Amino acid sequence: MKKILTQVVLLLLLAGTMVYAPQLLNGAVKKEINKMKTLVVYYSYTGNTELVAKTVASEISADVLKVEDAEKPGKLKVYFSGSFAAKRGRSWPIKTINVLLKDYDRIFIGAPVWAGKAAPEINAYIEQAELKGKAVVVFVTMGGSKSDEAIQSLTAKVEAREGKVVSSFSVKTGGTKKDEIVTKAKEAARQYK
Ligand SMILES: Cc1cc2nc3c(=O)[nH]c(=O)nc-3n(C[C@H](O)[C@H](O)[C@H](O)COP(=O)(O)O)c2cc1C
Repeated sequence: MKKILTQVVLLLLLAGTMVYAPQLLNGAVKKEINKMKTLVVYYSYTGNTELVAKTVASEISADVLKVEDAEKPGKLKVYFSGSFAAKRGRSWPIKTINVLLKDYDRIFIGAPVWAGKAAPEINAYIEQAELKGKAVVVFVTMGGSKSDEAIQSLTAKVEAREGKVVSSFSVKTGGTKKDEIVTKAKEAARQYK
């Protein structure tokens, strides 16, 4: 009798494990996926890159970090010195950033194209960012249709900080209405959901 009872108990334990084990595993996997956190970092002078960054962030439920000039330059300075600095891959002074990247697995880094390259403020950000081992998505907005050089230079700068550029995208803003920019940003975000 005792032997039969022991066998019944063992069988019940085995059945319980079979029912609950997949649920436990599922829970563990889900928890792991939910732990993946994304930060969208951007610089924007006239608001286009900000619109793209915020739209993408809202689509993929990411946090947002705005890179700001130490002192916002006027238009003349931006067009002459800004373009000059961007073209040469230089950086411009930015406000201190207090957001640590250790809590994030994936970082989006975006900037407007100036003279074919990324605005110098984003270079300043990348130079001080702890990107080692991070998956990075680079993006730009531009008036025209050329983004290759800017994406390439951003990629090189991220890789110099040991970040891994996994993907990139660009949004043309010239002659584009705000709601069209939002639509393009939403389309771009789809692949990162
Ligand atoms: C100084 C300066 C230089 C620019 N150079 C280019 C360029 O070389 N190619 C281009 O397609 N757009 C160029 N643009 C347009 C911007 O890249 C475009 O308007 C961008 O979406 C602006 O982003 P923002 O509103 O976030 O600053 C330039 C804009 C500025 C202010």
